[in-house]
Amino acid sequence: AGLDAAGGQPAAAPAAPPKAAEPLTILFASESGNSEKLASDVAKLARKNGFKPKVVDFFDLDVASLAKEKRVVAIAATWGEGEPPARATRAYGELMGDGAPRLDGIEFAVLSLGDTSYAEFCAIGKALDARFEALGAKRAFERADLDLDFDKPAAEWIKNTLKALTPASTDNVVAVDFAARAVEDDEDDEPSREPKVVEVVDHVNLNSSRSDKETIHLALEFEDGAPAYEPGDALEIYPENDPALVDEILAATGLTGDDALRQALLAERDITTLSATTVERFAKATGHADAQKLIDSGEAKAWIEGRHLIDLIQSFPATVTADHLNTITRPLPPRAYSIASSRKEVGDEVHLVIAAVRYETHGRARSGVASTHVADRVKNGAKLRVKLKPNRHFRLPQDPATDIIMVGPGTGVAPFRAFVQERRAVEAPGRSWLFFGDRHFTHDFLYQLEWQDALEDGSLTKIDVAFSRDQPEKIYVQDRIDHHARELVAWLDGGAHFYVCGDANRMAKDVRNAVVRAYQTAKALSPADAEAAVAALERAHLYQQDVY
Ligand code: 2AM
Repeated sequence: AGLDAAGGQPAAAPAAPPKAAEPLTILFASESGNSEKLASDVAKLARKNGFKPKVVDFFDLDVASLAKEKRVVAIAATWGEGEPPARATRAYGELMGDGAPRLDGIEFAVLSLGDTSYAEFCAIGKALDARFEALGAKRAFERADLDLDFDKPAAEWIKNTLKALTPASTDNVVAVDFAARAVEDDEDDEPSREPKVVEVVDHVNLNSSRSDKETIHLALEFEDGAPAYEPGDALEIYPENDPALVDEILAATGLTGDDALRQALLAERDITTLSATTVERFAKATGHADAQKLIDSGEAKAWIEGRHLIDLIQSFPATVTADHLNTITRPLPPRAYSIASSRKEVGDEVHLVIAAVRYETHGRARSGVASTHVADRVKNGAKLRVKLKPNRHFRLPQDPATDIIMVGPGTGVAPFRAFVQERRAVEAPGRSWLFFGDRHFTHDFLYQLEWQDALEDGSLTKIDVAFSRDQPEKIYVQDRIDHHARELVAWLDGGAHFYVCGDANRMAKDVRNAVVRAYQTAKALSPADAEAAVAALERAHLYQQDVY
């Protein structure tokens, strides 16, 4: 003993028996990628602290198998009017439905992401949290409902949740080091979290002057090389607020003359979005009795509809200090736009297509922060702060010989310009079919000449257009799909990938219904079988959406 029988060398001290890492399942329901990113942050910190993490996309989740887990962290985004991310719909429905398994004996915690500018803030995370409990699971840590500025609170929540999930007997835990930063940038394949300054090198209105729309083609140049973006990725723009609105707010509060505040209101604070939280903070900060009444009576939700911060300040005159403005507003969030170019064609540039958002509510003209910043206040030579936002769920087929079908009305056409550029550059042998729609052929046919060139050089095989307001009845992209049902299904049967980009509320749903109808028509399927055919496409990642 003590000697290695074979070699006569002294044996090393006997190694401690390998410690079994504690299993931890991290579920995410992501639309734009934030929940997915946080799930990988949880996994990284968990691994460092003796857990054996497993990250599962709701898209792939086998709900019945959840019963076998020991610990579950679920991170879920709420989308649109209180809906789950599109890719999470199936598993979310199963978990909420009658067939869900009992989850007795499982420890769980839910992190929910949302946007306070929507009415149903964090609805999905709240529902999941309640559902886990109802199914018998034990809450290990309180849910957090986070707004767009989730970075810091999410890192804090992750740290505390892992602490709470760490077994009391830490025998199995290799090293507990919660001082480690929850979020680390130690992976080379991750884009930098710091915004970059870029120069505007092209700024063109793609609509004719007689259009009632204004859609800006924006070319941005990265001085030290464009980040390694892929067709399908998005770029976040850090906008500035409308200076006229800043002045109005300063005037309404009597805080004119404070330059530091003016600068903060221009570039750092969200001075448009009004949520129930904003009203509450305002009432608390100013002690305004009527504003408090609005909250107490439960009428705040209805009142804020279509209103902005300036309406609140003007409707409830009170002494508002610079500090108040800081505490009642949230940080100004960046706005993501699908990239409309391929590096293979434009080198160190990134192209975006941005529709100026302008409308009127409660007798006041309103404007989208980032879109009108770009349309009205950014010209050639101007600088912008931007950051790459990858989207690995919206990708061209690996094999360039695969056919693609692209549905992108309005600015939804952006990623498809990138797709076509990419397929041109690699001389892809696969066929490409684009469905485009907008209001009027003569005013709103975005990139018309480019599509014609692409048809000529073969990077685009077919284009079908739907100009909704050129005739008495509306014609939309889904009507064009109906019209070509058989051919569309023949492409899909041949392995074509199907892509939709643009409006999430109605268009993307209407298009999906049209594809279901196309299966019914082309193959004489029952509605249920046609639905199953489209669901199968989705599960195989052949039907992909980038919607907003
Ligand atoms: P509309 O504004 O005339 O109703 C880009 O915005 C194009 O998408 C416009 O032609 C717009 O038509 C159209 N659009 C509006 N709602 C849509 C829907 N539910 N499905 C498809 N296209 C739609």
